[in-house]
Amino acid sequence: MPATVVVGLQWGDEGKGKTTDLLSDSVDLVVRYQGGDNAGHTVVLGGEVFKLHLIPSGILHPHITPVLGCGVVVNPKTLLDEMSALQERGIDTSRLRVSHAAHVIMPYHIAQDQATEARLDAEGLGTTRRGIGPAYADRAWRTGIRVGDLLDRQGLRHKLARILPGRNAMLHEAFGLPVLDLDAVHADAAACGERLAPHITDTTGLVQDALAGGQHVLLEGAQGTLLDLDHGTYPFVTSSNAVAGGACTGGGVGPRQIDRVIGVMKAYSTRVGSGPFPTELDDQTGRHLVERGSEFGTTTGRRRRCGWFDAVPLRSAVAVNSASSIMLNKLDVLSGLPELRLCTGYRVDGRDRHWPLSADELQRAEPVYRTMAGWTEDLGAVRRMSDLPPAAVDYVRAIEDMAGVPISLLSVGAERTRTIVRDPLGDGALAVRALTEQSAA
Ligand code: GDP
Ligand code: IMO
Ligand code: MG
Repeated sequence: MPATVVVGLQWGDEGKGKTTDLLSDSVDLVVRYQGGDNAGHTVVLGGEVFKLHLIPSGILHPHITPVLGCGVVVNPKTLLDEMSALQERGIDTSRLRVSHAAHVIMPYHIAQDQATEARLDAEGLGTTRRGIGPAYADRAWRTGIRVGDLLDRQGLRHKLARILPGRNAMLHEAFGLPVLDLDAVHADAAACGERLAPHITDTTGLVQDALAGGQHVLLEGAQGTLLDLDHGTYPFVTSSNAVAGGACTGGGVGPRQIDRVIGVMKAYSTRVGSGPFPTELDDQTGRHLVERGSEFGTTTGRRRRCGWFDAVPLRSAVAVNSASSIMLNKLDVLSGLPELRLCTGYRVDGRDRHWPLSADELQRAEPVYRTMAGWTEDLGAVRRMSDLPPAAVDYVRAIEDMAGVPISLLSVGAERTRTIVRDPLGDGALAVRALTEQSAA
């Protein structure tokens, strides 16, 4: 009963969508275990670009059951819109399963997120303004609405009648916003429930049955380790556990059921939103990374902040996720940079420091760099490690040494085929079918 976790090792947007897609021919279920429509996972399939926010990337493959686990927060409207948009492109969404225990992002969560960010402006977290934080706060406060509640019209009204006055008071008194009408909020939520009803189920049971039946379950993380509520750069984080451990609580599997954790990272660093970023580049090299890497947010369109590779948080990310291997994406983006820097340590207030550091300390961290030679060759057509320029091989090996686990897959372009398999018997065996089929086509 194999279960594989795909988890981001940095600040999100590492290319988890491509990684999941690459493995999809070998798996039966793809389960999103946390986050909501703050995520943006891009999959390039047969020349078509799909940008998925809430629905797991597995939806694109008819043999896969895509699942939203109980750790996800669901905005029912954006979910239905995303389903419709996929249907219009000929993708069957009837297989999608949504946990009855996942929490619902309500209109007052979105209003609160937006108003808080607008008020704080430059001091804000730079959230995606999708209501993620307030929805998870209600979950922890035990005042949340769950997806299963949408199916019980009367019970839902009773719950909303209890919750809404407090939320309205906050919206009105703290932010001067118009109050929400109980009838309208209830009618909208119940209507979404009716449309989602065929998809709502106990997904933990579904996942456990699949594992018991010998099916391969892939648990797809959103965001990344450095945005994890507990292990990231708090408070500049998202409100859920993006780390592999979150796959247990949010996906409905036990720790001993996971036998492979693929950490996904890119060959440099990016971050969207506020918060410390020691290796950030605000110069020509930063612009190279933005332009060559098309580093603009999938969800908000914001320009991503770019910087050098950073081994300090990576070592901790590999450990906390118990990553068994790494998929290193976007190596091609570095082509043309005369030299490359890799951050190997931090100095804070004149002292060597390791992860973790507080956000304040991280803000003051001075990166210690190792400099390596760059390369000019385009890597898009490279499919074997031995065909990479020697400087690129050295760079990959240096990252591998610092990470302490094998880099099993390397990506040199957004398309599936632009992949180098380094371990044909490990993760490579899961990816190999996809690659063989593509090259035969
Ligand atoms: P995710 O949130 O982790 O799924 O990552 P995103 O989809 O938000 O961002 C990664 C972006 O890089 C997407 O536009 C991918 O199509 C693209 N991408 C993935 N791998 C590569 C690669 O190796 N090279 C290049 N140039 N682009 C890539
Ligand atoms: P994927 O899955 C990159 C960031 C936001 C903000 C912080 C909190 O595509 O990698 P939130 O709306 O979650 O309360 O915002 O987290 N953030 C992401 N950054 N990729 C993502 O998802 C992100 N999801 C949230 O920019 O800094
Ligand atoms: Mg993304």
